[in-house]
Parts: sequence; C-alpha cells; structure tokens
Amino acid sequence: MADKNHAVGGHERIETSNFLMIVLTLLTVIWGGITEIVPLFFQRSTTEAVEGLKPYTALQLAGRDVYLREGCYNCHSQMIRPFRAETLRYGNISLAGEFVYDHPFQWGSKRTGPDLHRVGGKYSDEWHRIHLNNPRDLVPESNMPAYSWLNTGMIVPADVGPKMAALRKVGVPYTDDEIAKAAEDVKGKTEMEAVIAYLQVLGTANNK
Ligand code: HEC
Repeated sequence: MADKNHAVGGHERIETSNFLMIVLTLLTVIWGGITEIVPLFFQRSTTEAVEGLKPYTALQLAGRDVYLREGCYNCHSQMIRPFRAETLRYGNISLAGEFVYDHPFQWGSKRTGPDLHRVGGKYSDEWHRIHLNNPRDLVPESNMPAYSWLNTGMIVPADVGPKMAALRKVGVPYTDDEIAKAAEDVKGKTEMEAVIAYLQVLGTANNK
C-alpha cells in the first residue's frame, strides 16, 4: 500500500527531479503567457471609445493645446476616481474609453484646483471667460492665475490641420474633409474662445 504521506499522481517524481521541475515550470509559464498575449494580436485596441465620443473639433483641439501650453494640468486633474466623495462632487467616474482620442491624456496628478473631467456644460461660456480673465471676479478666494492674454492671442489656422493629420496616424478618426476645413474653422478665433470650447466638451460623452 502506498504511503499516504506521499504525493499522488506522479507529483513526487516531478518534485524530486530538477529536470522535470524546470521544464514543466517553463512550459506552464509559456502557456500562461501565450493565452494572455496572443489574443491581443487580434484586437485593434484593448480600449474602445465610449458610445457618443467624438474626436475634438478643430477649435476644441486648438484649445486643448492652449490648456497644455498654459500648464493647466499642473493644478487640475481630469480623472474622477471611483469614490463616493468624488462622484458626488464631480459626477460619473472617468472611463478609459473616454480618453481614446487624447494623445496624451490629461489625467494629471495634482489638484490645487478641482477636477475638470466633467466641467463641460457646467458653466456658461461667459462664466469661463470672466473666470479665466480673473478668477477672483467670480471666486474671491481663488488662487488660480488670471489668463487675460488669451483674449488677444490668436489661433494660427495653418497649424491645426497638420495636428489633426498627425493624430489620425495614431488612430483618431478624422476625415480628409475635417482636416481640410480645419484652418477655416479656427480662422479669427482667439485662444480664449478655443480653450473655452475645449472646456465645454470635457466629459460630455459619458455624463448621464
Ligand atoms: C495654480 C493652480 C491653477 C492653475 C495653473 C490653473 N487653475 Fe483653474 N483653478 C484653480 C483653483 C484653486 C480653482 C478653484 C477656485 C476657482 O474656481 O477659481 C480653479 C478652478 C477652475 C475652474 C472651475 C472648476 C469648477 O468646477 O468650478 C476651471 C474651469 C479652471 N480652473 C480652468 C483652468 C484652466 C483652463 C487653466 C489653464 C489655462 C487653469 N484652470 C489653471 C487653480 C489653478
């Protein structure tokens, strides 16, 4: 009769043989790796756009670049985390599929000011204009800098089409038509108008 302390089913043979133990461990790890990696080769992307998400218009895209240039992300995140305190204050949690057209995304890592992911539609364009001109006119205790030069800074129309073409290369579905019309769309627009257009679309695709 087999000693009942002995492992059954050949385990003892494997566990007492360096060769078998190494080869079978490697095979197990390789199999695990294959089952995780191979399906990715047949998937266009692991993150699909949420329903209703549209690429930024020419003006919104130009405004996004103003947001980057001015370093708004140093004080503002765009990432609502799955905690009650966050969803009560800011709205729906942020989903990966909302950022697929952002290259790079503006999740940020510091909140001197509030999260901006769902700020789209929260205020009027006029509110943003006054606020960006001088935040203290609306929020007396605010320590956000004033950005009054955005009123006179103009968007350079010729810059926007090529940016859209570059984004298309990394998967943003702009049409030839949209790229061709970009310069026309932003002609005569100020940086203030552009950054407000950008703020007003933030988080609106999934803001139910
Ligand atoms: C030095 C930090 C700082 C920087 C840089 C900054 N902000 Fe702010 N922001 C704040 C603070 C603090 C508040 C909250 C007080 C207020 O509303 O003014 C705020 C509030 C806001 C709000 C209102 C949010 C809400 O839900 O009420 C918007 C919109 C905003 N900022 C946009 C911007 C934009 C756009 C830029 C870049 C052009 C920017 N901020 C740069 C600190 C900053």
